[in-house]
Amino acid sequence: MGTRYKVVTIIGARPQFVKAAVVSRVLRTRCQEVLVHTGQHYDHEMSGAFFEDLQIPEPDYNLAIGSGSHGRQTGEMLGRLEQTLIDERPDMVLIYGDTNSTLAGALAAAKLHIPIAHVEAGPRNFSMRVPEEVNRLVADRLSALFFCATQTSVANLHNEGYRDGVVFTGDVMLDLHLAMRERALESDVLERLGVEHGRYVLATIHRPRNTDIDDRVHSIFGALMEIDEPVVLPLHPRAVSHLQRVGWYEKVASASHIRLTKPQGYLDFLRLELGARAIVTDSGGVQREAYFCQRPCVTLFPNTAWPETVDEGWNLCVDADKDRILDAVRTFVPDSPQTAAFGDGHAGEKIVDEMLKYLADPRPIYA
Ligand code: UD1
Ligand code: UDP
Repeated sequence: MGTRYKVVTIIGARPQFVKAAVVSRVLRTRCQEVLVHTGQHYDHEMSGAFFEDLQIPEPDYNLAIGSGSHGRQTGEMLGRLEQTLIDERPDMVLIYGDTNSTLAGALAAAKLHIPIAHVEAGPRNFSMRVPEEVNRLVADRLSALFFCATQTSVANLHNEGYRDGVVFTGDVMLDLHLAMRERALESDVLERLGVEHGRYVLATIHRPRNTDIDDRVHSIFGALMEIDEPVVLPLHPRAVSHLQRVGWYEKVASASHIRLTKPQGYLDFLRLELGARAIVTDSGGVQREAYFCQRPCVTLFPNTAWPETVDEGWNLCVDADKDRILDAVRTFVPDSPQTAAFGDGHAGEKIVDEMLKYLADPRPIYA
């Protein structure tokens, strides 16, 4: 009876491969899944490497949309996704997070009156200048099922008037973290980069505000230049091109304490997180993984959509302030107990259970 339903899953960017790896595995035991990759990320180290590391099934469609301005990228995805959904006629569309692939997937499905399940619904940082905030507000508005990684996400949705279909499942990234931790410890990435466990800082920077605004770039990369221990910096392609344009790339690449690398695969990156003395990041996913690894996290924004990490004392939001970044990297030593804020590591199963319950008795959301 489980294979009655057809679900089209829409992914396209690195964090979505990570999240889909968890849910797809469970979903495929109980439904027919058609996997659609929009092609938003396409470099091997941003896409293919994750399918290999995490044994994600080959996508049924790769729309190869690639990079572009927000409107153009989202618009091209929308057209192609609409045709794919018309051809496939699924019972439900599954979307993840808050990228342009999420937004296009939500719009395409809603216009065809196909119910949407949204994994990682509800986080907010309350700034409409952040592109992801726009994407998640729209995606949530169009969704039937809201799978929340935290109780804060549940509360945000309740405050916006959503009740039906809002479920605290926990974070699928915790499921994957727990499943992959032992395997990650077998990676030799520390030896390859010439760093020792517990004796380096890991940094990732990719948000447009931190790569495209010159003052912020100077503060952030100026701080990394002054850190007095090795810094491993797997740089997202967005950051590479902007650093090259403003003349920072060579400076950072030639600093003797900085190991500037390409983006790492999931297992090597997890090994780097587990071995880091501290983590500096503007990534939503890496903030949570720093918490899972119990490593101090220094976040390059004034606030976070994952306030549990801050409230429990494991994350400091220092924005792009050079002195605050350096001070936090040198002195922040969290030691508070952690709660089950991100669930129990079984989010994937809960999500699929809820989808099947809904599909057996769908509510008329687009009446
Ligand atoms: C996107 C998401 C962001 C997420 C991030 C994860 C949106 C609006 N943003 O940001 O929420 O945190 O993914 O990593 O959807 N590029 C390459 N190769 C690639 C992919 C990108 O060179 O495989 C370069 C291109 O120059 C491109 C730029 O990176 O223009 C930005 O890529 P894009 O997918 O538009 O946004 P991200 O910054 O990756
Ligand atoms: N990640 C990775 N290699 C890297 C940087 C990040 O595997 O070099 C993983 C990280 O472990 C997490 C995910 O990518 O699972 C987070 O994605 P990203 O930072 O691109 O996006 P965000 O979470 O900010 O949307």
